[in-house]
Amino acid sequence: MSPSTPTPAWTRVCTVDDIPALGARRVHRPQGAEVAVFRAADDHVFALLDRCPHKGGPLSQGMVFGHSVACPLHNWTIGLDSGCAQAPDEGCTPRFSVKVEDGQVYLDAEELNRLALDDTPCQG
Ligand code: FES
Repeated sequence: MSPSTPTPAWTRVCTVDDIPALGARRVHRPQGAEVAVFRAADDHVFALLDRCPHKGGPLSQGMVFGHSVACPLHNWTIGLDSGCAQAPDEGCTPRFSVKVEDGQVYLDAEELNRLALDDTPCQG
């Protein structure tokens, strides 16, 4: 018997239809910056910290294209599956695990409670 289980404790945050197509919905956390949950044209759902790795722009207000988002401030392209800026720009924002089941979107409760709580931009 294992003393700890690797199975994430998924917490439901919204439905896929709650997320605007090619847009995002913000998930508030009691502590730490908000998380942006994105919906791509193919209905893939991604979650990143709602802070651009450049100067902290709100990625949730950016335009989604393919599996990327264009930051609304200076138009950097951030990969939704990696959280990283497209070259020649550099830097990554924290990425959160997502599960979609029966049209419901879940995030990992442990990650929500742990990742990027200090709001420090990631220098990836
Ligand atoms: S803050 Fe996102 S591109 Fe500058």
